[in-house]
Amino acid sequence: PKADNFAARVLAWFDQYGRTDLPWQQQPTPYRVWVSEIMLQQTQVATVIPYYQRFMQRFPDLDALAAAAQDDVLKLWEGLGYYSRGRNLHKAAQIIRDSYAGVFPHDITTLETLPGIGRSTAAAILSLSQDQPHAILDGNVKRVLARYHAVEGWPGEIRTLQRLWGYAEQHLPNTRNAAYTQAMMDMGATLCTRSKPRCSECPLQNDCQALLQGNPQAYPGKRAA
Ligand code: ADE
Ligand code: SF4
Repeated sequence: PKADNFAARVLAWFDQYGRTDLPWQQQPTPYRVWVSEIMLQQTQVATVIPYYQRFMQRFPDLDALAAAAQDDVLKLWEGLGYYSRGRNLHKAAQIIRDSYAGVFPHDITTLETLPGIGRSTAAAILSLSQDQPHAILDGNVKRVLARYHAVEGWPGEIRTLQRLWGYAEQHLPNTRNAAYTQAMMDMGATLCTRSKPRCSECPLQNDCQALLQGNPQAYPGKRAA
């Protein structure tokens, strides 16, 4: 455990308040977690759930998705928006079938080469489905870390982004990586919200630098005009 106990506090919070009833948390195979993470990239959990259920009913595994016609995949995506996500999902399933013998890649470097899967999504998939020790840095986690460390600058700026990745890796626990990953997402979504964060309920409140400065909403910084 690190001196600041960051991960231990986040995990203790998760054990009391974290979400454990989401559909993709039941049988969290790489395939099921992958589909959920792609849907959740630009869409809220509550909206995603019924789409996810229909998708899994129609395409229960990689083989079913790879064998589908693109139109059938996009039909199930109707209403979710950002259709390139659906096209990439379908393309990636075919690449896994054709180039990886139908076995979902278990190493992050390979996973990141697939269409639609960036560094954070690859890390989330392997962490949540296999407890692999990777750091994630999605929009929610960027907000938590930018506030906790009072990181100046806009995360679209490479220097700022690298600083945030450094903190994300620094705080990783040595055990329970999947729970930690889910906890950071949940904290960003339910406590450390864009406006009016619930700092009085946050396990990081006693040493959060943005809160100590009195204005969490100042972080993360905006794009320079
Ligand atoms: N947003 C992205 N991934 C998520 C997950 N696994 N749970 C909740 N919100 C998320
Ligand atoms: Fe976010 Fe507030 Fe927690 Fe700091 S104390 S991480 S600003 S919710």
